[in-house]
Amino acid sequence: MGSERRKFVRASRALLPRAPGAPSAPTALSSRAMVTSLLLWGLVSTAQATGNATTGAALFDRCAICHSASKGGPNKLGPNLFGIVGRKAGTYPGFSYSAALKKAGFAWTPAKLDAWLMSPQKLVPGNNMPFAGMPDAGQRADIVAYLATLK
Ligand code: HEC
Repeated sequence: MGSERRKFVRASRALLPRAPGAPSAPTALSSRAMVTSLLLWGLVSTAQATGNATTGAALFDRCAICHSASKGGPNKLGPNLFGIVGRKAGTYPGFSYSAALKKAGFAWTPAKLDAWLMSPQKLVPGNNMPFAGMPDAGQRADIVAYLATLK
């Protein structure tokens, strides 16, 4: 009982407002954390912007079983991906899309493609692409850089 009470008193003291003018270490810390996360965010977006299209073309091997990438190329198990950046999801002529992808309602941007490659089911639940996702952000950036050249 006694020790419970002491714990309570200690906890309430921690919640009391600091005296005015007292050094505000927690605030300083959290702004440092904010700067750090901004820097990290910058690094991530840079990585996304600088994917290597040549490496991406080689990585596309694992997509090519199901996707052609040339202008007017055939639909295979998946739709043709020529001009995919800027194309509305689920709209390539002659391909029979899942209801989920047909009503996705967005156009493919590099950011959307990155999210799709990370986890198709997370971005568009119920879609038909039999692909678990690529956890490697660098590989995704490379493939997206390659996809952006298909125009
Ligand atoms: C085993 C076959 C298969 C593999 C491998 C595969 N896909 Fe797909 N992909 C599909 C199918 C099927 C769809 C259509 C899904 C639907 O209708 O829900 C699709 C859809 C897509 C779409 C949306 C196209 C549109 O017109 O909206 C993109 C983008 C895409 N795939 C990219 C890729 C990339 C990049 C890879 C390689 C990392 C890949 N896919 C690997 C079968 C595959």
